[in-house]
Amino acid sequence: MCGIIGYIGTDNGVDYVLDGLKNLEYRGYDSSGICIINSSSQTNLIKQVGGIDKLVQKVKTIRPNGKLIIGHTRWATHGKPSISNAHPHFNNDHNIFVVHNGIIENYLEIKSKLIDRGYKFVSETDSEVIPNLVDFYYKKIGSLSEALRMTLDDLRGTYAICLVSTIEPDKLFVSRLGSPLVIGKAGNKIFVSSDPSAITNRTKSISFLNDYDVAQISLKKIKVFNQKDNKPSFAKFEIINQRNEQNNLGDWPNYMIKEINQAPEVVELAIKGRLSPKHQIKLGGLDDVSSQLDHIDRIIIVGCGTSYYAGLIGEYLIEEFSDIPVEVELGSEFKYKNEPISRSTCLIAISQSGETADTIAAINKVKDFGVLKLGIVNSIGSTISRITDAGVYCHAGNEKSVASTKAFIAQVTVLSLLALRLAKIRTKSFDNLSEELLKLPDKIRAVLGQSDQIQKLAHKYIKYKNFLFIGRKYNYPIALEGALKLKEVSYVHAEGYSAGEMKHGPIALIDKTFPTIVIATKGDLYKKTISNLLEIRSRGGPIVLITNFKDQKIKNMVDDLIYVPESHEETATQIITVALQLFAYYFSLELGNNIDKPRNLAKSVTVE
Ligand code: AGP
Ligand code: GLU
Repeated sequence: MCGIIGYIGTDNGVDYVLDGLKNLEYRGYDSSGICIINSSSQTNLIKQVGGIDKLVQKVKTIRPNGKLIIGHTRWATHGKPSISNAHPHFNNDHNIFVVHNGIIENYLEIKSKLIDRGYKFVSETDSEVIPNLVDFYYKKIGSLSEALRMTLDDLRGTYAICLVSTIEPDKLFVSRLGSPLVIGKAGNKIFVSSDPSAITNRTKSISFLNDYDVAQISLKKIKVFNQKDNKPSFAKFEIINQRNEQNNLGDWPNYMIKEINQAPEVVELAIKGRLSPKHQIKLGGLDDVSSQLDHIDRIIIVGCGTSYYAGLIGEYLIEEFSDIPVEVELGSEFKYKNEPISRSTCLIAISQSGETADTIAAINKVKDFGVLKLGIVNSIGSTISRITDAGVYCHAGNEKSVASTKAFIAQVTVLSLLALRLAKIRTKSFDNLSEELLKLPDKIRAVLGQSDQIQKLAHKYIKYKNFLFIGRKYNYPIALEGALKLKEVSYVHAEGYSAGEMKHGPIALIDKTFPTIVIATKGDLYKKTISNLLEIRSRGGPIVLITNFKDQKIKNMVDDLIYVPESHEETATQIITVALQLFAYYFSLELGNNIDKPRNLAKSVTVE
């Protein structure tokens, strides 16, 4: 969840590290810190609660200089956000400094053993055991790299670690297990980062560490050792062209509204080169697995949060266009299932960040079954894109706002293309979806043109503390996603529900204080959904209807109505979702919340 930046170079790296931390702030922002070792081996340890800007202000007052630096943005798992719990953590002798991303599951056991040996602890975190355990082993064997490797052997859980020490002030030591870490080379500077996009404004030459890699980085050389294979490895550098959009807010007030407004271009980029006006589908990322793909007889889609909801839409799409049964699983639940998996099963992992631990765990669960593993990922070079056999990138560009918006639109678009790719025959509905995808950007632009109307709607409902979102078939996952968007940025309770399920319980919630957002689109389910709407109305619940069907009769039965451009049910999902994203955005804006960095959340959930 957190962000790590390391630096070793021939010039002062303080600004590089602070810039990198700013680029990583979406990964966690309850506190942050930096440790700077200068050429006289003096250390400057600066920590701050709150966002990176507070750390930057504090650093600027001290104006430290150093060529060996580690920095960290924290998303607390063990111990509240506080100065003492912020990273970097250090040993009792204050000569070993560590930043850590992940969870050390056996930290209490290690901590008590170290306390028995006279070590003192100043934080509540699990991470603080790392520098002290390294210190313990260093004092026994006299080698820092060996002491780190012995420490890693003792740790259980997940980690991305960056360590510096005045014992060897010309080296960065890094290691990863279950949490991402990359090395970037830029001439006389070397960077370490949790996410390549945080340093690609400095270098495009990136090496992705693998699980159990331990690297000792100096300007002279990078030595990598893999603890699992118990043999030397090497840092393979590749060119990653994912530009960081950190400073590209332009005139937008925040990333969420910018990214919502990027939806039309995102659809265009997701289909570019993949869908021709003659309805040919080309998913180049699947070419190498094409024959295996043509023989699968079952698909399991895994994802979390918004990506899981995209998967639910994918289930309808793929089953509509191919005869392949699809099931959709939450990454965090799939690992507990003991269902039969055969070689003709295909697992599709959907993830914006490509680093979600629960989704990675699902992939790792099936890796020994000979299952075809595909990724639908937005972050280029991310862990999921590397541990799957093949995949389709979303090409939505960096998504900085914690609330996923444009990536979801891209995910559903890619799933539409995949459904068409898996279709055994080309039917009329095949051509319809293909044509609709080409028209989709303009229809989304039309919804974006309704932003003022949607902002007024959010204002009208701002006093309510509970919302239901309901829909049927494709609109059911959209109801779930609309509810998630609202709750995660406004902190108001919102629940998505299948419209048909209302009468099986949730309707008990309905009264004049409990509005329902009803999603009903043109088609054979419209009337059934309107029946559910009328059941709500007859109990006095306020109703907002979002529809693409010009039904004159309905106007007097609802409190508010949002018309979106008509389309086929498959692409109505993206069009309506943009309206719901705007509603959540304006609701949160009116409440004065931190739009891009909602409380308690982080963009990439790299802990299980
Ligand atoms: C979406 O708005 C949330 N931030 C969250 O549910 C997110 O979708 C989930 O954590 C999965 O992330 P991923 O797509 O990067 O795997
Ligand atoms: N578990 C560590 C802590 O609570 C690291 C959390 C993170 O990954 O930010 O400080």
